[in-house]
Amino acid sequence: MRRDTTPVDRNLALELVRVTEAAALAASRWIGRGDKNAADGAAVDAMRKAFDTIAISGTVVIGEGEMDEAPMLYIGEKIGLGGPKVDIAVDPLEGTNICATGGPNSIATLAVAEDGGFLHAPDIYMDKIAVGPGLPAGIVDLDASPAENLRELARAKKAEINDLVVCILGRDRHKEIIRACREVGARIMLIPDGDVAGLIAVSQPETGVDLYLGSGGAPEGVLAAAALRCIGGQMQGRLLYEDDSQIARAREMGITDPQKKLTAEDMAQGDVMFAATGVTGGPLLKGVRRGPTSAYTHSIIMRSKTGTVRYIEAHHNFSLKPSAFVD
Ligand code: FBP
Repeated sequence: MRRDTTPVDRNLALELVRVTEAAALAASRWIGRGDKNAADGAAVDAMRKAFDTIAISGTVVIGEGEMDEAPMLYIGEKIGLGGPKVDIAVDPLEGTNICATGGPNSIATLAVAEDGGFLHAPDIYMDKIAVGPGLPAGIVDLDASPAENLRELARAKKAEINDLVVCILGRDRHKEIIRACREVGARIMLIPDGDVAGLIAVSQPETGVDLYLGSGGAPEGVLAAAALRCIGGQMQGRLLYEDDSQIARAREMGITDPQKKLTAEDMAQGDVMFAATGVTGGPLLKGVRRGPTSAYTHSIIMRSKTGTVRYIEAHHNFSLKPSAFVD
């Protein structure tokens, strides 16, 4: 695929935070109310409206689904006021169940790349592995066993395996990985949902996570790859197919080698930006706090070109400026 490498304006990064803030504020009305579809719908609607204030000519590459199944932010939808041509990856509410049950770590998130910069990942599973920055290239590998990866990582970190923490989605399909990690003495942080935040955690020392292992959504994999391109760290992913029709779908979407072990660079190329706002609090971001006329949001925005990571705390005063995106 030919890429238009028009540089993405750095000021865009700050504009993008408004978009994730709008989605998080809208979803926050639904925290703990047991209705994940309502929470997701509110986030999608708010994010879609907020994109219409941004000076880009964006194409949704990772979105809410195909045009016939998603009314907004569907794959191929054109968004923005007009401006540089960019690829957009969105997950307006990553961790819909977490938000509905008031658990930790649901976020509103998006990433932007130059035109053609994102892998067009179908909505299937992806096997994933990630470690943080400052480690030798290739220190862990998707095709190595958990024990081998942990041994290599411990050696590189000059640590014992039982010093290491592995973040894994708590799913039956991960029983064997969990067993293999525990057998060699590693500690495990099981997360109920939300592997974008789980993958990013490897690059944030304060989370205590050293390694991410296991399968989750492929679209979430692309978002996490964009974040790790900005913040540092290594990631590999491989698409997992349930049947031949999924392989055919991947090929239709432009994936020429469906079995390829993808690096973060394969999934998110060129100048990439990543933004997220916490909906419910977690180690990466605080959650939305709301009062009758105001709200507080906590966001992260980063860019691969400079490696700058900004945390933004915002106090929204609805009594002065009723926001079109909040309700
Ligand atoms: P949703 O926000 O769409 O509910 O996804 C949550 C999530 O946990 C993702 O973070 C993860 O990639 C995927 O679901 C895992 O899928 P599954 O729940 O089928 O294991």
